[in-house]
Amino acid sequence: MEKKNPIQVSKNEQNPLASLDVWEDDLLQRYPNPESIVQDKSAQEFRNYEDPKRGTVREFYRLNHTYQTYDFVLEKEKQFLGFDKTKMPVWDAFQFLNQLVDDSDPDTDLDQFQHLLQTSEAIRKDGHPDWMVLTGLLHDMGKVLCLFGEPQWAVVGDTFPVGCAFSDKIVYSEFFSSNPDIRDERYNTKYGVYSPNCGLKNVRMSWGHDEYVYHMVKKYLPEPGLYMLRYHSFYPQHREHAYDHLMDDHDREMFKWVSLFNPYDLYSKNPVPPDWDQLRPYYEGLVEKYLPATLNF
Ligand SMILES: [Fe+2]
Ligand SMILES: [Fe+2]
Repeated sequence: MEKKNPIQVSKNEQNPLASLDVWEDDLLQRYPNPESIVQDKSAQEFRNYEDPKRGTVREFYRLNHTYQTYDFVLEKEKQFLGFDKTKMPVWDAFQFLNQLVDDSDPDTDLDQFQHLLQTSEAIRKDGHPDWMVLTGLLHDMGKVLCLFGEPQWAVVGDTFPVGCAFSDKIVYSEFFSSNPDIRDERYNTKYGVYSPNCGLKNVRMSWGHDEYVYHMVKKYLPEPGLYMLRYHSFYPQHREHAYDHLMDDHDREMFKWVSLFNPYDLYSKNPVPPDWDQLRPYYEGLVEKYLPATLNF
């Protein structure tokens, strides 16, 4: 799939990362593939705090942790969950997402669609249900938020609940000291606006591509797929178990699926792009089986 009419998301104060992939590269260093032979190399790179990319990741999280407040999430829900911006046929939506290019070398980086296809193909190879394959194909569609002018820190990054205390297990948690919610007594206690084990359906997450894509397709996929979409960046829970006190039994059951999905997202990247022409008929059938002809944004 081509990158037509690229829309440049350039580095600036609000967008410190050269590419959205820099966040994902950082995840890979934090959570290296236990099965990968390059693990040692990743671990070495992780220890390399002189790496200039690490400075941009820090700045990215500083912005994210400073500005993701309870009120900010309410405002973004109002702005985007009406899905009244535009509508387009599903395959045009993938083309649209692929317009997203950033300051990293576009020749060496695989485009957004390749990452989606590699994720879905890895899921398919392991024989999982077809709706999970489709979940892999859709999981980062929410990154179109960048194309609507949203800053990187409001699109990607590890997600976490807002409206209650921020866990110190969240990466770069020291930056929450600049978040006004930690001085607001409605929001700064362990449970904040929530109650013990109230279930994630009652919890607002920091705003980003996960929440957006979940709402975009929530009528069309089975519930485990929706959990994968909505919580795939919720590393503080699916990797660190920092919010067990908000989860209910149903969440715990569903998070088995979120954990199953995560390695396909993190560890399926391969410099060799899949052969789209060969795969196309399968995916056209899959999209037709589950999704309507057009998606609303
Ligand atoms: Fe993602
Ligand atoms: Fe992804």
